[in-house]
Amino acid sequence: MSEAEWKTGITDIGPGKIRVRGYDIADVMQNLSYAEAVYLILKGELPTPAEAALMNAILVSSIDHGASPPSVLGTRTVLSGGNSLNAAIAGGVLVIGDTHGGAIEQSARILQEWAKKDGEAATIASQIVDWLNQSKKRMPGFGHRLHNVDPRTGKLFEIAAKYGYSGRHIEICKALEKTLAERTGKQLPINVDGAIAAVISDMGFDWRLGKGFFIISRTPGLLAHAYEEMTREKPMRKLGPMPFEYDGPAERKIPE
Ligand SMILES: CC(C)(COP(=O)(O)OP(=O)(O)OC[C@H]1O[C@@H](n2cnc3c(N)ncnc32)[C@H](O)[C@@H]1OP(=O)(O)O)[C@@H](O)C(=O)NCCC(=O)NCCS
Repeated sequence: MSEAEWKTGITDIGPGKIRVRGYDIADVMQNLSYAEAVYLILKGELPTPAEAALMNAILVSSIDHGASPPSVLGTRTVLSGGNSLNAAIAGGVLVIGDTHGGAIEQSARILQEWAKKDGEAATIASQIVDWLNQSKKRMPGFGHRLHNVDPRTGKLFEIAAKYGYSGRHIEICKALEKTLAERTGKQLPINVDGAIAAVISDMGFDWRLGKGFFIISRTPGLLAHAYEEMTREKPMRKLGPMPFEYDGPAERKIPE
């Protein structure tokens, strides 16, 4: 009888032994790319060549997007305030939320829940837009502050198609772009979060892992920004994309 009080199925360790999902770490180091090892640790099995290529493309796609995204400003602000590297990276990761990077989670959730229903992709897309309108919600994974066509989306779908990996979630995602344009009259491109959501859903990943893909991808970018901030900028510099003005109460005194 085992005396263990809890179990884990991820990595088996012992003196001189590290086996990730059953594979010796030396074997993994020798034979798998980083993306393949990430797939292994999350899925528990080795990826096919298609899954390996897609995982690599996902992790590369969101590595950085310039100095303006909220997570980068988070990292730089924490560092500029005189904090450590780990606090700065953690600060950036904490900024990732439902509207920045984290849209993967809710987008994948919607795609996975609706893909189970019967009907053609276009019909499902139309039903999703009805539901969004009724609940006064935006479709996560669509729209972008800068891009009318997100260059990362097309490439991800192209790689998926090359390997014959275009499944129902990608189909519904593409149909949604069309339906949203027809119904709103606005160009709301599938952004990188939406594309990752569709691809990981076709790869069989649970939507609850969604934000994790963005965090794994963006952390090297955050590290580069933290390092640039510490080596190139002075501490507590004026950081922020635009000027602001104060519009709160004028100076006042606490009543005696
Ligand atoms: C990313 C985002 C914040 C960019 O927004 P933006 O370009 O500044 O556009 P706005 O927030 O000003 O919205 C402009 C209009 O488009 C609509 N719109 C924008 N994104 C939409 C979406 N995903 N679904 C439905 N409608 C959307 C807004 O309702 C608004 O309509 P209105 O003018 O009638 O009020 C926005 O598209 C969004 O919230 N997307 C969903 C979250 C997401 O995918 N985030 C990941 C970004 S990589």
